[in-house]
This record gives sequence, C-alpha cells and structure tokens, in this order.
Amino acid sequence: MSGINYSEKIPNNVNLSEDRTLQRALEHWQPNYLQWWQDMGPDGSQNFDVYLRTAVSVDPQGWAQFGHVKMPDYRWGIFLNPAEQERKIHFGDHMGEAAWQDVPGEHRANLRRIIVTQGDTEPASVEQQRHLGLTAPSQYDLRNLFQVNVEEGRHLWAMVYLLHKYFGKDGREEAEALLERNSGNADNPRILEAFNEKTPDWLSFFMFTYFTDRDGKFQLCALAESAFDPLARTTKFMLTEEAHHMFVGESGVGRVIQRTVNAMNELKTDDVAKLRAAGVIDLPTIQRYINFHFSVTIDLFGADQSSNAATFYSSGLKGRYEEGKRTDDHVLKGNTYKILDVVDGQLVEKEVPMLNALNEVLRDDYITDSKGGVERWNRIIEKAGIDFRLTVPHKAFHRNIGTLKGLKVSPEGRAMSDHEWNQKVEEWLPSDQDRAYVASLMGRVVEPGKFANWIAPPVMGINRQPVDFEYVRFN
Ligand SMILES: [Fe+2]
Ligand SMILES: [Fe+2]
Repeated sequence: MSGINYSEKIPNNVNLSEDRTLQRALEHWQPNYLQWWQDMGPDGSQNFDVYLRTAVSVDPQGWAQFGHVKMPDYRWGIFLNPAEQERKIHFGDHMGEAAWQDVPGEHRANLRRIIVTQGDTEPASVEQQRHLGLTAPSQYDLRNLFQVNVEEGRHLWAMVYLLHKYFGKDGREEAEALLERNSGNADNPRILEAFNEKTPDWLSFFMFTYFTDRDGKFQLCALAESAFDPLARTTKFMLTEEAHHMFVGESGVGRVIQRTVNAMNELKTDDVAKLRAAGVIDLPTIQRYINFHFSVTIDLFGADQSSNAATFYSSGLKGRYEEGKRTDDHVLKGNTYKILDVVDGQLVEKEVPMLNALNEVLRDDYITDSKGGVERWNRIIEKAGIDFRLTVPHKAFHRNIGTLKGLKVSPEGRAMSDHEWNQKVEEWLPSDQDRAYVASLMGRVVEPGKFANWIAPPVMGINRQPVDFEYVRFN
C-alpha cells in the first residue's frame, strides 16, 4: 500500500484503477490543472530541467527520489499515509467510535468547507510566487522555489482527490472552482486574505515560507487528527512535504541575516544608509518584514471566539495541534481559555469557554512554534558579536480579524491612538521605501555556485549535492 503506482496517468497509492468513475473524473480534471500550471504557475520556466524530489513511497524513510525534471512533467499524484488498523476517533462527542471511512451526511457541508479552504491556499501560493523565478538569487534558491511550487500543486491534488471521491457533483464543482479563483484577482480572489497578498521579492518569499507555510503545518496537524480518516491520512503525508517549505524559509532568512551581519562587521557599522549602499538588507528592515508576515499570518487562524471552531472540534472534524499527546479529557466541555479583550482602549485577558476559543488555542501553539526559528536567527546575530535582537511582535499588533481587529497596538503590546500609530507605523511595518529598496536588490543570478550579494550561500546543498551543483538547467 505504501508503494506508489507510477504506471498510471495519475500516480497514486489509493488503488485508483479500481474505481473507474473516479479515475475518469480525475483524468478529466488533470488537463485543466496542467493548463492552470501553464497559465498561473512559475513564469517562463516550463522548459527548465529542475533537480526535484518526487515522492516514490509514503514510508517515512526514503520516500523521495531526486532527478532533473521539467516541471510540467512532474508526477503530481495522490498519496495517503497507510491506514491505521481500527483507528478510533480520539476527541469530541464521538470519541471512542470508529473513525469514518466515508463522510457522515450531517458533517458533509462543514467537511467540504474545510477541505475547500485548505485546498484553495495551495494553488494560491504558487500564484503568489510565480514571478520570483525571474529574480532568483542563485540556482540553489531557484530549485527550492520550484520544489515548493510543485509540492503546493500536489497538495491541491490531495484536496481535489477528497472532493472528487467523497463529495459527488458538489465536490467536482469545487475542484473546478479551485482552478478558477486566482490570488489577488479582484473579481474572483482566493478565499483567505493572506493568500491574496503579493509575494513581490525573495525576502517576502522566505518570510512567507517561514511564517505562512507554518500556518499550513498547524492547519494540517489539526486536520491530521480528524475523524474523517481519508483526510487524516492525506494531511499526514502533506506534512512531510511541508517541512521542507519551512526549512526554505528559515534557512533563507538566516542566510540574509548572515550576509548582513558579515557586512556590518566588515564595514564596522550599523548605519542603515551605509549598509544599503553596500547592497545588504539592514536588520531593522528584516524586523519590519517579520512584523508584517507574522501579523498577517496569525489572522489566518480566524476569530478568537468562534462557534464554528467549537462545532468542528466537538463533531470530530478538526482536532487540536498534537491532540493525541494532550492529557485532558479531549471533550473540553467545562474548560476555559484566556483570550485578549479590549476594555477602555486597553488590552486585558478574559476567560471564555475553551471550545469557542480553539482558533486561539491553535494560534497560540503556532506562535510558540514560530518563535523557535526567530531565536535561531538571533544566534546568527549574536555569534557575529552584534547587539541586536529580532522578535515576533505582540499578538495584538496589526490584526485584522476577531476582537483585536483594527486596534492600534505597538509590537510590544501597548495600545495607542490612531495618531500615534500613524507617526510610528513606518518603524514597524515595511514602508514603500523599504519595499523599493529590497526590490532594487532583486536580480537574476544563474551561474552554479554564485549567489546574489544580499544573501549568504547555504552551508550544504540539496540531497548532499555540492552547493555549486547545476540545480537548474535552463536549456
Ligand atoms: Fe501546502
Ligand atoms: Fe507549503
């Protein structure tokens, strides 16, 4: 079951050939997907041979095979983790019952919505990143971008399989609509706001893969607990791919920082103008990018109080992060949780029923996780002997959903007037000048082993290849 059948049009480990109707429906969707990839996927790169990894099994060890492939020939397919024998629902009102192999009628609408919302983010990020290949700082980075892109494409396949197999005509229509909405399109945008933002430069790309792909990780972890077993199994395999995306982000930002602190030491300065004249990205600008991407991403977890979140949990559709490792009753009926409220313009804590605060619970778990990488970035700065610390901003900073929406709060968590906010905002969020400066650095570096001036080379290559390996053949 863990082996993948590559002899079929659609590689899969779900015995697709045994379900002719489903196979035909997906083979009908496949050319539309490829057309979307041509139109909205990586710009001007269809003919490149890219050193990509492809899934060949879902075993934790050795699932990937590396080789040069043209992206349109990438074998996008349907890969589920192996079924757990007699898996039981382990949270919510159905706890202890057998996990569902099909969709219960009463949960159909909610499950469809969850799957469509997750599915919509996958092609959205490919669209957001489609022009970045034109300004890659190295072949190594270009290859990593493309790897992320093809895997987000595969994540779309993972969700489309569920829609086609379990949701009939509605599911097929949703699968079509996933190719019709487009990131940033005024008439038919992607569902979630952060996925309609631009990813205009490589610093944004690294921030996106660090912060926003990590939101993906937490959503997938919550869905990997689901009572709907096919959803749990497919998200578990998606998580193994997601890990690389976050690596691209963490190491990418880390290398930008490394280059900057090297220049600070060479020039013996922390003067922003001098550092910019030297063509590196000053640390305060990096901090502003962190503030932006962190705040936009934590909005993705939804409102801090949500009856939908309670329903999704109690009915077994979506668990908490690492539900299985928690020691409470997994029903949470009498439990409470602290969220932030605003009283007389000040932030105060307020206790609410935990079931209604499960978006906030997931957001807080995310925040803890995302601080880890920021600390590792700080170690690069410390090691260079430079007195500067990067931080994630306060949870209430620059929020656009729930109780905190629209509040004016500093990155340290101090509530303030609109007037003060307007005076300070350029210290806290990337200004037009910051963005223009970063954009001015973006240029294409194509020689193997060469790197743009604003980023340090990685310590290691991909799949134990040397850093100057020919990761992309431009043909
Ligand atoms: Fe994804
Ligand atoms: Fe991802």
